[in-house]
Parts: sequence; C-alpha cells; structure tokens
Amino acid sequence: MIRFVPYALLICTMACSQTTEKPVYLRSDAKTEDRVTDLLKRMTVEEKAGQLNQLAGDLNTGPASGNADWQHKLEAIKNGQVGSMLNVVGAAKTRQVQEAALAGRLGIPLLFGYDVMHGYKTIFPIPLAEACSWELEQVERNHAVAAAESSSAGVHWTFGPMCDISDDPRWGRVMEGAGEDPWYGAQLAAARVKGLQGNLDTNHILACVKHFAAYGAVEGGKEYAYTDLSRVALWNKYMPPYKAAIDAGIATVMNGFTTFEGIPVTGNRYLVTDVLKNKWNFKGFVVSDWNSIGEMVNWGYAADKKDAAFKAISAGSMMDMETQAMVKFIPELVKEGKIQMKEIDDAVGRILYYKFKLGLFDNPFAYCNEAREKATLFSNENRKQSLEAAKRSIVLLKNENKVLPLKKEVKKIALIGLYASDKSHIFDFWKGQGNPNDAVSLQEGMAAAFGTSSISYSAGYVDLSTTTNKSLIAEAVAKTRSADIAVVNIGLSGDLAGEDRSLANIAIPADQVELLKELKKTGKPVIAVVSAGRPMILTEITDLCDAILYTWILGSESGNAIAQVLAGEYNPSGKTVMSFPKATGQIPVYYNHFKTGRPSTTDGKGNWYSRYRDVDNHPLYPFGFGLSYSHFTYSNLTLSDSILDNNHTLQVKVTITNDGDHDGEEVAQLYINDVAASIVRPVKELKGYQKIMLKKGESKTIQFTLGSSDLSFYDASGNSVVEPGKFEVFVGGNSRDVLQEQFWLK
Ligand code: BGC
Repeated sequence: MIRFVPYALLICTMACSQTTEKPVYLRSDAKTEDRVTDLLKRMTVEEKAGQLNQLAGDLNTGPASGNADWQHKLEAIKNGQVGSMLNVVGAAKTRQVQEAALAGRLGIPLLFGYDVMHGYKTIFPIPLAEACSWELEQVERNHAVAAAESSSAGVHWTFGPMCDISDDPRWGRVMEGAGEDPWYGAQLAAARVKGLQGNLDTNHILACVKHFAAYGAVEGGKEYAYTDLSRVALWNKYMPPYKAAIDAGIATVMNGFTTFEGIPVTGNRYLVTDVLKNKWNFKGFVVSDWNSIGEMVNWGYAADKKDAAFKAISAGSMMDMETQAMVKFIPELVKEGKIQMKEIDDAVGRILYYKFKLGLFDNPFAYCNEAREKATLFSNENRKQSLEAAKRSIVLLKNENKVLPLKKEVKKIALIGLYASDKSHIFDFWKGQGNPNDAVSLQEGMAAAFGTSSISYSAGYVDLSTTTNKSLIAEAVAKTRSADIAVVNIGLSGDLAGEDRSLANIAIPADQVELLKELKKTGKPVIAVVSAGRPMILTEITDLCDAILYTWILGSESGNAIAQVLAGEYNPSGKTVMSFPKATGQIPVYYNHFKTGRPSTTDGKGNWYSRYRDVDNHPLYPFGFGLSYSHFTYSNLTLSDSILDNNHTLQVKVTITNDGDHDGEEVAQLYINDVAASIVRPVKELKGYQKIMLKKGESKTIQFTLGSSDLSFYDASGNSVVEPGKFEVFVGGNSRDVLQEQFWLK
C-alpha cells in the first residue's frame, strides 16, 4: 500500500512552529466562506480544473472510459488532478485514497460519491416500491439508515434521490423514482433528502437530485434516448420533485443523459443557469452524469471533448464525472479567454464549500472508521427497518373470495417459481454493497412463517426462457395437486430493473403464463407473487390467479416481508404509484393525463373520441390502487364552502368506514380538476392524502385543507399561477373510485 505524507499539514506545522500563521483555509475557526476564498487564491488553474474532475474507483457504472489503474489514479490525485472519486468502496480503501489527496500540494481532501439508491449494505425496497407505502416518515428513516451505513464506509455523498417523473414502465429506471405523480414525487423527494442529509453530521451524506431535467420523458421509454417536451410539461410534470429537493436544502444536482429543446441537458444553459442557479438560487454544485459531458460529442452538439467542456461549463455545469474533459481543457480554455476565471472559481468554490462543510479539511478521515463500519453495516436494527419498509411497500392487486391471508386450514403450500429460491434474482442493478446471499428468499421467508414441512418447492420456469419447460411445469402441477394452495413467484429477475434495462415488452413472460394456465387447471387456489422493478402487464394472468400480490423488489428482507403478508401478520396497505397498463401499446397510460377535445363517454361506447379501437382507455389497475384484507367505504364528502378565495382555506371532509373483517390501514387520496384554465390541464391531480389506521367496524371522518396555492399550476416560464373558476374535488381510495364535489375559486 502506498502511504503518503500529508504535505499541506507538514508545511503548515513547520510554518506555524516558525513565525507565520496557519493559512486561513486550514483554520477550523475561520468562516467557511473565508476558507474557500483563501484556498481559491492559492490554487493554480490546473488545480482548480482538478477539483472539477471526478474519477471512478473500483467499479464502472457506465461504459468504461479507459481509466488508468490505481497506481496512476493515486498519482493523479496526489498531483491535484482529481477533486472527487466515485465507486471507491469501504472505510479502509477510502482512507488509503484520501491519504493520496492529502499528500498533494494544498492537501485538498477528496469527496467520495457512491450510488446509495435504496440502501448500502442493508438493502431496502426499491424507491418505486417504497413510494407505494405512502409513509414519508418511513421513507425518511429508510434513507437515514442508508446514510448511516454508507457514511460509516467512507461515503460522503450519494447520487440520489432520483426524482425523474415517468409514466413509461418500459423505462428500466422507473424503479428508482416515485412514479407518475409530480405532487407526490415532490413530497418523497423532500423526505429522501431529509433522510440522507439530516444535519450533515458524520452519520449523514450529501444528496444529489437527479437527473436534471426530465430524463423520465425519454422517447418510448428507451434508455439514453432523446426527449421532446414543451416548457409547460417541463414545469408542471417534471420540475416539482427537483424543486422540492432544492427547497429541502439538497447540496448537489446531477445533469441527465438526455436533451431539452434540442440541447443535451448537461450543456443546457436554460436549465442549469437560468433555472437552477438564477431562478431557484441554487447554491450547491452540479455534477455531470457518467460521461454526459463527453456524450455531447455523440449527440452531435459538441465537436470534440474540448468543445464539450466549454459548452458544459458555459451552461453552468460544474463537476465532470468520468469524461476528464474539464481537467484537461479548462486551463487551455481559460488561457484562450473562452472561459473566465470567475466561472471556474464559482464552480470550484461551491465544491470546496461542501468539503469544508463536511469537515474534511479538519478531519479528513471522519468517514473512514472501520470499527464504526463494522458495527453499522447490516445490523439487526437496520434489517428490522428494511423488513418494516418492505411489508409496507407491497400492493395487493387482487384477492378473489378473500383467499388471502392464508387460513389456518392451509397446511400444505406448493411454492413455485425460480425467483422464490434463486437469490441471484432478488436484487436489482442498484444494489449498492448488498450481497444477494444475505437476503431472505421467499422460500426462506415462507419456511420461517409457515414451517419448512408445509412448503414443497419447485422452480416452474427458467429465467429469461422464451420456450416453455414442460417438465418443470409438470413438476409444479404435481406439487400443486398434492398441496392446498399454490404460491407462484413470477415476474422479472431483479437484474432487469434499473439503468440500461429498458424493455419493449413488459408482459408476464409466455412460459410463466403457460405455467399459471396449467396450475389453474388443478382447481387449487393460485396466488401470484409478482416481483419486478416496474408495473408489468398483467392482463393475461389476472383470470388465472385468485390473488395477485405485487411485491416489486423488496431488498434484504424480501422473503420475510412477503411471507408475513401472505400469513396475515401484516395487512397490506400499499397503493401503486404507477398505473398498470393493459397492453404495451397503451403506454403511456397515467391517471393525470391531459384533457382532450374528444373525451370518451363514461361507458366507453360511441364513436369519434380519443381512444384505441382494440384496447380501452383505462389502465388495468389505476394510480393509487391497492387492496387490503379489510374493506373501506367512503361516504359523506362535504366541503366547508362552495366558494374559496385567496385569504381563506376550504375544508374537505369525508368519512371512511372499515367494513371488512380485519383492522387495517387505508390511504385516502384527494384529487382536483381545474375545469377551465389558460392551458390544458390534467383530468385529475393529486393534492393530498392521509394514511389512517381503522379497526374493523370503525369509522373516522378525516379532513383535508385546500388553499388557493394548492390550485396553482405553472406557466411556460415556470411561474406559478392561480386562476379563478370552477374546480372539482375528488376523494377516494384510488384515483378511479372517488366521491366528487365542486367549488369555485374567486
Ligand atoms: C447513472 C447515474 C449514476 C452514475 C454513477 C450513471 O450511469 O445515470 O444515475 O449516479 O452512473 O454511478
């Protein structure tokens, strides 16, 4: 191992013991702003360009960029050519790499970044699943655990939360986000930032909202594709979660891989400077996505990497992940007068500010504590949190004849499905340092909940197979015949969720459908447990199953969470945050779609209206939908007034009765419709929700408050406008089945 002497500290110690004062930037009692200014004054343009350079360490989360080996990386770090590293794993390794930085001329510590999307070592439900819990406190706790674990392992900064709204489940990255609703996406963004950043002590990490902006609008859900959208769509549909993250005090922002108005977003001055820095007054720093500066050449927007560096910095972008264009070309660009030093100082100053803020100049190894790392990672407490989060993320889509929860009389369960036992399918692409072998499989969870002797297992299908495996099906059928019930884990391998995992076909694979058809013939109840990082098209299987439990990708405690729900130890309370399409050609299908000049009739009959001829306009399961083992009835929707003005609020009351036979939680949702506005508005927009617990037989009247600001929308310049007129208000247990009232805004 190479050991470096912290050069700056050495010089300082020598200097201080003689006559000179410690440089201001090394004085922990000095104001952060003064330390930044002092350090900037001491830096050469090459060193400044180095601060804008971010290199990958042990693994590549993008196309390999011809990175040098560790020896060369450490040399570059020591020479002040690197400001940040990503993907350096563990307290020991980060310490070693940090030592190289401290041995540089000015001893500027590195920032270590890592994707902690849904946990570091203890893996939590994917963000899309977690969103289905509608429990912001739980979400905040999940991210606080992720922060505690990763910060103990040397991480200062994560590239999340991902706040890209998307209504296209073909896009693999929907798993990272919050679903299709901008308002709820904004609530989640704030909770995630709070959990990650906390008060920025050493148990927390810097967060990074991404991918700015509107990555979720990629054409056809195809990864890394073009995006084409209007400014009103940008502002109303895509911006709210990013803005919420900024308002929650997020430290950093990541550019996306995509385009806006024909310009790659990494080089888009409107987005980065006009909106982010000027309109929103964002004071943190911007990092590119992996080689997104270099990719401007592929987009045909920059002639070469030098031009790309110029365009990125001129747009307001700052740190360069993996292109190595900033470090190479900024000194030249400054010399040529193409870029002003004050632009570079602004970018570098923002990065240094956070290095000071984290205390890295005063205690560069505060995050590299191996004892703390050992005690924190995958602790029992963290696993308990993950289990809690996982149970709350599950969405019950169908429960014919109350087949679930499994009754005491069920003595023998045929557990079928490769994904139920083979742990290599449990985790998704963004699994952090999670080890799939540490995760609880469904088979293990079922054995724990029901006893090993109750379960007989068979695989039923082969992963990614296009042809039906008749002998596997025959075995599954035989097991089902001699059991009381079949629990069948189908869907997609976790590895098909995440970046670079767009799919043109998101239906349940044909061999799994075939399996279900054969199981159905046994006459035994069939419970489908669907694992996937996106809503899949379930049209073909709904009639083949008595119950459908949508379990997404749940993380380390997956098997325990699902088994406890099947057993009725936890009554499912999740509601989907993305609509489930009936067919691929129906995508995008989302609840908050825009009005049309030719809406359909309520019964969908007649001609000459907006539709496909072969599939109706409705999703299979709408946004906000999810069943409970109990049942909730909504009644008495009342408004405190029929008129609202800017100085008052309106109280919306509704009574919810648990008229089922279990205690349970319900997510009551409030939507509005702005009946006539200066731009075309969505048919419905979520504006509030409450998750409440009701004992069986219990009724509660809950109240929502609406003010005029809840009725606002954005114009094409991103200004919030409120327009008087008629509004409809809807309350219900999902976006489709609602009670309705109306009022006027004066
Ligand atoms: C992804 C980012 C991620 C980065 C670093 C990129 O490919 O788009 O979301 O943070 O890699 O791993």
